[in-house]
Amino acid sequence: MKQTLITLISADKIGARVKELAAAISEHYRGKEVILLCVLKGASVFMADLMRLLEIDFECEFVRLSSYGDGTKSSGSVRVVSELSGPIHDKHVLIMDCVVDTGLTLGFLTEHLRKKGPSTVSTCVLLNKLVRRSSFVQLDYVGFSIPDLFVVGYGLDRAEKHRGLPYIAYLQTGGN
Ligand code: IMP
Ligand code: MG
Repeated sequence: MKQTLITLISADKIGARVKELAAAISEHYRGKEVILLCVLKGASVFMADLMRLLEIDFECEFVRLSSYGDGTKSSGSVRVVSELSGPIHDKHVLIMDCVVDTGLTLGFLTEHLRKKGPSTVSTCVLLNKLVRRSSFVQLDYVGFSIPDLFVVGYGLDRAEKHRGLPYIAYLQTGGN
C-alpha cells in the first residue's frame, strides 16, 4: 500500500524551538558540570543542533537502548545496548531523547543513571506523546507535544528509514 509523508512540524519551527530550549538550558546549567547524554540513535540530530547553540561548557555522552524492533509498538522491555563511556558521579546529567511515548524507555534510563551517583538527572525531549504515557517520567524540557501518531524525521526512524528528513512527519497509508 502507498505511504505518504505528511509534515507535522516544519524545519523552521523545530529550529526556533531548539533555540529556545538551548537558551533555557544554558541559563539553568551555567557554572555547573553538565553532561549531555544523547539517547541513540533517535536523538542524534536534536542533540547535534542543540549543543551548537549552548552558551555553556558541557561534556557529551551517548547511550544506546533498545525497546523497539522495526515495528511501531514498544516491546515493553528496555535494555542497555551500549553504555556511557565514563563516570557521571557528582555531575549534572541532562538526558536528551527524541520522543517520549509510554515513558518506559526514559523511566528505565533515569533509574539506571541514578545508580551511578550523579548530582542530578534531568530530561530534555523533543517530542511528548502525553496520551500514550503508562509510566510516570519527569520531563524538564519539552520541544513539542504531539498527538498519538508514529512520526519520523529529524533523527526519528521507522525501521531505520527517514532519519535524515529535516522536518517531523507522519506516514499516511492508503490511496493509490
Ligand atoms: P517509550 O519507551 O514508549 O516512551 O518509547 C520511546 C522510544 O520509542 C523512543 O526513544 C523511540 O526510539 C521510539 N518511538 C516512540 N514513538 C516513536 C515515533 O513516533 N517515531 C519513532 N520512534 C518512536
Ligand atoms: Mg527507532
